[in-house]
Amino acid sequence: MSFIKIIGMGKAVPSIRVRNQDLEKTVETSDAWIRSRTGIKARHFCGKGESALSLAAAAAENALRSSAVIPAQVGLVITACVNPDCFVPSMACLVEEKLGICHGAAAFDINAACSGFIYSLQIAQALMENGSACDQAHPYALLIGTEQLSRMLNFKDRSTCVLFGDGAAAALVRLDDEAVFFSHTAARGDAGKLFAQTIGPNDMNAHYPAARTDPAASWLKMDGPGVFRFAVTALEEEIRLLEEKSGVGAGDIDYIVCHQANARIIEHVRKRRGLPKEKFFMNLQEYGNTSGASIPLALCEMMEKGMLQSGRRIFCIGFGAGLTWAGAYLTF
Ligand code: ACO
Repeated sequence: MSFIKIIGMGKAVPSIRVRNQDLEKTVETSDAWIRSRTGIKARHFCGKGESALSLAAAAAENALRSSAVIPAQVGLVITACVNPDCFVPSMACLVEEKLGICHGAAAFDINAACSGFIYSLQIAQALMENGSACDQAHPYALLIGTEQLSRMLNFKDRSTCVLFGDGAAAALVRLDDEAVFFSHTAARGDAGKLFAQTIGPNDMNAHYPAARTDPAASWLKMDGPGVFRFAVTALEEEIRLLEEKSGVGAGDIDYIVCHQANARIIEHVRKRRGLPKEKFFMNLQEYGNTSGASIPLALCEMMEKGMLQSGRRIFCIGFGAGLTWAGAYLTF
């Protein structure tokens, strides 16, 4: 059996950087509260001409460039996104159009919220291993996490608007005989209790600070403390499961890359397991919670910093709306 391996990554960071101090001007909050309750110092929001789609295409282009792979070698594109520019055609098809991937590579979107990237790894593993997607001429898959959450935020609701950001990252994967991969995905319909979002018309012309034509239609709502309790349980369970399936203990794994929602969630689990801080990469201080983009964005920055050299073994763990949760063991 062959397993997938990430061979390159690319990211796209939107142009508007918003510090906590900037939000103090629009909503009753403070830099001190946001930093101490979440660890977040800034986030990036899309400006004019930017969207989840433009970020996805830029991230995918950067992933290809970083790996010296050309669009003609791609056999599969999966985009994970909670708030796509449009539902039909899929974002993945539109990315193919923008990148000139025009030879029939499979393309589709998934929505598993903040667990979306791990779901896409699992789907790619299955499709590539059984020969349903990719072949010798097109051995690569592009897995993209992209979000424009600012379109869903109510900038008058301090309990949510300080937490989220926009961004995208893409991983280029292929089957590799030396690689080992294991993944687990799960969900429990629990939207009403812990995470509710009304889906309505999104105004594509609305950029931060938001000016929507129909402000009631598309706000994101969350029971923060409820999600916090769910998140710490899901993280601990996934670590235990990945240890069991991979045969590698959390103490021996090189890094544990968690969904970047809140530093306190990660710290809580780290302390309970008695693990060192260096094992948990975090970049939420700069990006906030970027949902489906958060894990690939972290992996991309780790790769840029030279942290994912050959031989590294990592756990990735996501949790989010749905509720969904997921874990993956990856080797480099
Ligand atoms: N600034 C100042 N005060 C605030 C703010 C703010 N931005 N937000 C809330 N408060 C106030 C509340 O009104 C409350 O005041 P009160 O005591 O007078 O009523 C007080 O702070 C405490 O509020 P809590 O909600 O209890 O604060 P908590 O410590 O639980 O932190 C937080 C809130 C950060 C949302 C936390 O619950 C959390 O991180 N939850 C998990 C969220 C998460 O992970 N979401 C992502 C998963 S889903 C996805 O990613 C799509």
